Amino acid sequence: MTNQYYVAVVGAGPAGLFGARELANQGVRVALFNRDIKPGGLAEYGIYPAKHTMKDGLRKQFRQTMELPNLDYYGYVSVGTQGDLTLDELRAFGFDAILITAGAQGTKSLGLPGEELEGVYHAKDVVYFYNHLPPYSMKPFRFGKRCAIIGAGNVMVDIARHLINTQKAEEVTAVVRRGPTEVNFTKDEMKHLIAYMDMQEFEREMARVLPVQQAIGQDPEIGRHKILDALAKADPKTDNAVFKFDFLASPVGMLGENGQLTKMEIEENILTERDGKTSAKGTGRKRLIDVDTVIFAIGDKVDDTFGLPVEWNEFVKSREPRFPVDGLSYESTEEGVFVGGWSRKASDGLVGYARKDGINAAKAVWGYLQTKQAGDPDLAALDAKLKSLGKPVILKESITKLEEVENEEAQKRGLEEFKFDSNDEMLKAMGLNVMA
Ligand SMILES: Cc1cc2nc3c(=O)[nH]c(=O)nc-3n(C[C@H](O)[C@H](O)[C@H](O)COP(=O)(O)OP(=O)(O)OC[C@H]3O[C@@H](n4cnc5c(N)ncnc54)[C@H](O)[C@@H]3O)c2cc1C
Ligand SMILES: NC(=O)c1ccc[n+]([C@@H]2O[C@H](COP(=O)([O-])OP(=O)(O)OC[C@H]3O[C@@H](n4cnc5c(N)ncnc54)[C@H](OP(=O)(O)O)[C@@H]3O)[C@@H](O)[C@H]2O)c1
Repeated sequence: MTNQYYVAVVGAGPAGLFGARELANQGVRVALFNRDIKPGGLAEYGIYPAKHTMKDGLRKQFRQTMELPNLDYYGYVSVGTQGDLTLDELRAFGFDAILITAGAQGTKSLGLPGEELEGVYHAKDVVYFYNHLPPYSMKPFRFGKRCAIIGAGNVMVDIARHLINTQKAEEVTAVVRRGPTEVNFTKDEMKHLIAYMDMQEFEREMARVLPVQQAIGQDPEIGRHKILDALAKADPKTDNAVFKFDFLASPVGMLGENGQLTKMEIEENILTERDGKTSAKGTGRKRLIDVDTVIFAIGDKVDDTFGLPVEWNEFVKSREPRFPVDGLSYESTEEGVFVGGWSRKASDGLVGYARKDGINAAKAVWGYLQTKQAGDPDLAALDAKLKSLGKPVILKESITKLEEVENEEAQKRGLEEFKFDSNDEMLKAMGLNVMA
């Protein structure tokens, strides 16, 4: 039984799907709008492709949510000032509340000279590419033999794996602005990469950065453990490549020939420490490294074309929330508009965290709904708008069909998984008119 409330949820990643389920379980009717044809967000299009068990487990849970009778799925519909619907239009349909769980789709660009060169990319675009999300799946990337990745998080590790195992890079360097103590990847991820690390080179690098660590009283063993603990369960080497770290280094510019990247300029850093927080500080000393490809894996920000105010890479939240959950604000500065998951805090945490955050956001929405009478949404206007988009809107039945076709295709090809690379192929597989 549904009650009279009708809530729009924007974004069907883990936060949106688990948030939608929470609301639907309260009897709320949910309209779930999603930019991509398929639901899942980064669980489908970010998590490393080889993690089949994890991805399948999540898909199973997402499917159960999609099957809820009081959940309407509108896939291939983006919301935003440059989307298919604006936030104002969505509001005008008369939803009782709107929950934004659209992830962190903006790019944290450092504005360095040469960023436009061919061979310079941002992590999200690359992970969307190798996870077959259109249109990234169809874009040309120039992955060369010598690659650098900026950052020392789990995304850096995933991308290094891809560059070595799939793109057959010969040398991958993680360029890290702070030192070994501050790396942020987990040993469960590093175990997939560590066999490629040249241990002599690693020891040389540790010795090089030691004086800087000592200058702020750091114990070098902490960083050594953070990195080398992965050795105990290291995956065997299957490719002929070297992975290394370049610590205390910040990119300051990219150089190229004929529009193609050839070198990256780096500034060397020292460390400073204040109130227990370590920061990198440029020394002014610069050097060049030879590279064919540079990928920024430094986290993302929310989409600032969405239609909500943005500050410090995030949508602005009400500082005095009326419906806080666990002391956190899920309320945007606009009446009835809530944020959850990576749309609340960009690039923060694992799927389990996004799930919890989506549920908490839904709890905040539920608290808000209790303060108001249900409205009378103009479903005819919504339907007319969706029909006017000039493209098919994907309903949940079509997702079931697409999954069947892709599973059959995987079996035929003897693959663990098969995904179409273009929206047109997906639409055809669902029996929908590409030009509808
Ligand atoms: C490369 C990478 C690998 C990861 N690997 C792991 C892992 O192995 N294990 C793990 O636990 N966690 C992993 N994570 C973290 C995990 O993916 C995130 O915690 C989680 O997906 C965030 O969920 P979300 O729903 O907030 O956002 P997302 O997953 O980003 O979902 C956002 C959804 O919103 C939709 N959307 C975007 N913009 C719009 C719009 N304008 N209108 C409508 N819809 C929109 C998108 O289509 C998408 O479906 C990884 C993250 C990355 C980046
Ligand atoms: N397999 C998995 O479980 C998996 C895989 C991928 C992602 N994830 C999760 O997804 C989230 C995001 O991952 P992430 O790797 O993007 O984030 P992250 O762990 O925060 O790492 C970002 C890295 O970029 C660096 N950085 C940030 N700004 C920079 C700048 N301006 N210049 C140079 N370097 C900069 C950071 O350095 P500082 O530390 O100095 O800021 C850090 O090393 C994390 O919670 C992660 O665990 C999980």
